[in-house]
Amino acid sequence: MIKVAFYDAKEYDKASFEKYGAQHDMQFRFFDTKLNEDTVDLSKGSDAVCVFVNDSVTAEVIEKLYEYGVKILALRSAGYNNVDVKAAFGKVHVVHVPAYSPYAVAEHAMALLLTSIRRIHKAYNRTREFNFSLSGLTGFDLHGKTVGVIGTGKIGRIFIDICRGFGMKIIAYDAFPAENSGIEYVELDELFQRSDIISLHCPLTEQTRHLIGEKAIGKMKKGVVIVNTSRGGLIDAEALLKGIKDRKIGAACLDVYEEEADIFFEDRSGHILDDELLSRLISMPNVIVTSHQAFLTEDALNNIAETTVRNILSYFENDGICDNELCYRCGNIDKCRKERQERCF
Ligand code: NAI
Repeated sequence: MIKVAFYDAKEYDKASFEKYGAQHDMQFRFFDTKLNEDTVDLSKGSDAVCVFVNDSVTAEVIEKLYEYGVKILALRSAGYNNVDVKAAFGKVHVVHVPAYSPYAVAEHAMALLLTSIRRIHKAYNRTREFNFSLSGLTGFDLHGKTVGVIGTGKIGRIFIDICRGFGMKIIAYDAFPAENSGIEYVELDELFQRSDIISLHCPLTEQTRHLIGEKAIGKMKKGVVIVNTSRGGLIDAEALLKGIKDRKIGAACLDVYEEEADIFFEDRSGHILDDELLSRLISMPNVIVTSHQAFLTEDALNNIAETTVRNILSYFENDGICDNELCYRCGNIDKCRKERQERCF
């Protein structure tokens, strides 16, 4: 029986994991709390630990997991910026779900964009109160507008296809441009200058943190719409707020926020939100915030559960060889050298 400690467990996680886990010799212990230095003790006696995007897997947490004999850390996400992968090397194997539904995220990005520019959120609230006035609801056509896509991996490419369907002009920036893709790649500065809409689909790394800051915003078109379904840290939220107050930024659609870890995924209604910056952003008429919801489709949840269960089983039933392993040297299974009998360590 493989014992799995499951952190930041929500009802929808339990349902999908119980469905897939039940078919195997696995026992889940679900904890509502997030993994951090204070909660790591809950993982004692577990063979595997399963975490999501806002669990904080620091070197200290990894040291404890190692001490408790936890063999594998299974991320239910693609991104792993919340895990000290370097500290984990040689101690705890880290696996992730490289793609569960890039469509879910790309479609959410477009849903946010359309909601924002056609004022659907405002119209919905109005008609519920029998207010049928159109005053202040004027939007603009996406057709013919230029969208700048930063990061043309799985999600970015699907978002580009969706935008093509709308008849938009597409330009893109990627540190590793795709070959023969038919995508017009430009330098970041040019993307900032030419785009009517900018959508972020690159990972959060040391290079990309605050990619959208005061300087970048200064180069953008007046009225630019910024969409971020990737990671909050890609945007300097202070600079974003300033850009909105200066009327430089036309609208912001945010599914992620740099300081979301202690806020998102929980019901905070009835509480006073301590985060002034987020409160201020949410109060702006041209900002839409969803709380890291882009992944949340039934299709994605099923894929996450199926792949995570397979990742864990693969380690325990396949002589320590992990599907979808991450190690700090390669950061990516595809490029992992797997020097030791197909293992990262
Ligand atoms: P991917 O790995 O397929 O694509 C990422 C792309 O970013 C690659 O083409 C890569 O070359 C590019 N890139 C790397 N460094 C860059 C840099 N410095 N500048 C510009 N581009 C760079 O990843 P995928 O699956 O498309 O996911 C993208 C991001 O979406 C993830 O990193 C994650 O943060 C976010 N995400 C958000 C979700 C949500 O629910 N809001 C769910 C899933 C992913």
